[in-house]
Amino acid sequence: LKTKGLVDIQAADDQRQLNEIRVKLLGKKGPLTEVLRGMKDLSAAERPQVGEFANKIKTELATAIDQQLQVLDQKSLQQRLAHETVDVTLPGRQAQVGTPHILNQVIDDLEDLFIGLGYEVIDGPEVETDHYNFEMMNIPKDHPARDMQDTFYITDELLMRTHTSPNQARTLETHDFSKGPLKMISPGRVFRRDNDDATHSHQFNQIEGLVIDHHVTMADLKGTLEVVARHVFGDEREIRLRPSYFPFTEPSIEVDISCFACGGKGCSVCKHTGWIEVLGAGMVHPNVLRGAGVDPVEFGGFAFGLGPDRFAMLKYGVNDIREFYQNDLRFLHQFQREV
Ligand code: PHE
Repeated sequence: LKTKGLVDIQAADDQRQLNEIRVKLLGKKGPLTEVLRGMKDLSAAERPQVGEFANKIKTELATAIDQQLQVLDQKSLQQRLAHETVDVTLPGRQAQVGTPHILNQVIDDLEDLFIGLGYEVIDGPEVETDHYNFEMMNIPKDHPARDMQDTFYITDELLMRTHTSPNQARTLETHDFSKGPLKMISPGRVFRRDNDDATHSHQFNQIEGLVIDHHVTMADLKGTLEVVARHVFGDEREIRLRPSYFPFTEPSIEVDISCFACGGKGCSVCKHTGWIEVLGAGMVHPNVLRGAGVDPVEFGGFAFGLGPDRFAMLKYGVNDIREFYQNDLRFLHQFQREV
């Protein structure tokens, strides 16, 4: 019994097996327990001998089991260590650091500039009413800008705003002129049913600007725009003002910046003219002021709507506006924000 038991114990190669052997050899139904239980039938002389012998075997087997258990514990520990080993000398995986979208960087930069000039930054809804997008901006019912071809209509009265100008009306209505002049910019996305190409996208950004006070002149507008152009493009950049027309400004101008996306004249970004239009502006039309409850005799000022997408294209030599909206990381990662 002892020899067979010892062999079995040695042969056990996991803890569960060993435990079964223990139960079989030393358990309540095991042979040794039976021998000890049978002692009562023995003579007084035999009893101590048999008892001693049986107990000795029991102890030896128990010791062997304990030893084997230690061996097995060691073995499984080694296995686990080998399995879970970590090579601390391997190079770590680099987490890719994100960066604000290049358009947001340009917009943030312009916001900082205008905040420095004393402007407030205000927000407005992308889903706008016909009332604010057109009516309040002095755009009559038969104006071509209302055409289904230019505007994404949601219902008769709701649409995707085609410009940020409705925020002029929204702030004019709420501004308290007894507390001082109104100076605000309003950046945001706008939407038009354009066919996308290198310089047109059905969604792009605008930054609306509005300054209303007593005695604001066109010279103030021109000076402000020059500050903006120089801030973004440096002192050498030329700007050009062209007479234009917008229903909500009178007089109206369009502002071009000398094109350097591909070294001056001759590229598609500037339509081969050497100039690229970056904003529309003008002196706020009396009808806009009147419509929002502001007296156009007492107050007046200028407004502009500039295009950060165009600014970014020019500044960084991006010659396709669609790049900004395709989220190709190879494109976006070129514009890590400098810290
Ligand atoms: N809202 C005009 C546009 O989208 C731009 C503009 C804004 C023009 C303010 C004049 C004054 O083209």
